[in-house]
Amino acid sequence: MKITLINGSHRPNGQSQKVALYMQSVLCDQMSLQADILSLAGNPLPLWDQGVWDGEEKWQTLLTPLRQQLSEADGFVVISPEYHGQVPAGLKNFFLLFSKNELGHKPALITTVSSGEGGAYPVAELRMSSYKNNRICYLPEHLILRKIESVLNANPTDNDERSDSYYRARIAWSLSLLQDYAEALKGARQKGRLFSDQFKNGM
Ligand SMILES: Cc1cc2nc3c(=O)[nH]c(=O)nc-3n(C[C@H](O)[C@H](O)[C@H](O)COP(=O)(O)O)c2cc1C
Repeated sequence: MKITLINGSHRPNGQSQKVALYMQSVLCDQMSLQADILSLAGNPLPLWDQGVWDGEEKWQTLLTPLRQQLSEADGFVVISPEYHGQVPAGLKNFFLLFSKNELGHKPALITTVSSGEGGAYPVAELRMSSYKNNRICYLPEHLILRKIESVLNANPTDNDERSDSYYRARIAWSLSLLQDYAEALKGARQKGRLFSDQFKNGM
């Protein structure tokens, strides 16, 4: 089983990348799964334009390997920092560029990141407006990682011990749920009813 972690931060050395690397280590080292990271740090994907739908060569060159990477995943972790109470623009753009062909009817664990007490708005935004046509399946469970600078650091002296141990336990449990949903939805996709030529998009 392979899980792809999508890091939605624009910042190359952002806290979301720290979270992605930590969750990848749990998936690989503790759960013996495959896990890779697709990072949007540094804004590697231009804003969507008509050339995507027209199959322009520059878009094909950029998107084909990423489509392949996402298609091979059985589930996703969608990591979103909170930027001015919103999901970062690069992550919203990601949901314009990729579709049900890569994401459809696969489970995803929302994980939001805040240096303060934020993190609830991007959960609400992802649940409200990022799944309609691509049909990604968000788990009913999500993670909101607050005061992120003081948890999940490699050096224990940099961590607030109480919050850090709570988050590590909660992350492990949430990822085990993701694994269970990924196994279940793989079987559901194989039944063949989930993709309809008649109803290509959500209502
Ligand atoms: C443009 C911008 C806007 C931000 N707005 C918020 C916010 O509204 N609420 C919040 O809790 N944190 C906000 N933050 C701080 C992030 O929580 C913090 O940068 C955190 O480390 C996660 O982002 P990162 O992965 O890019 O580091 C903002 C950060 C940036 C760069």
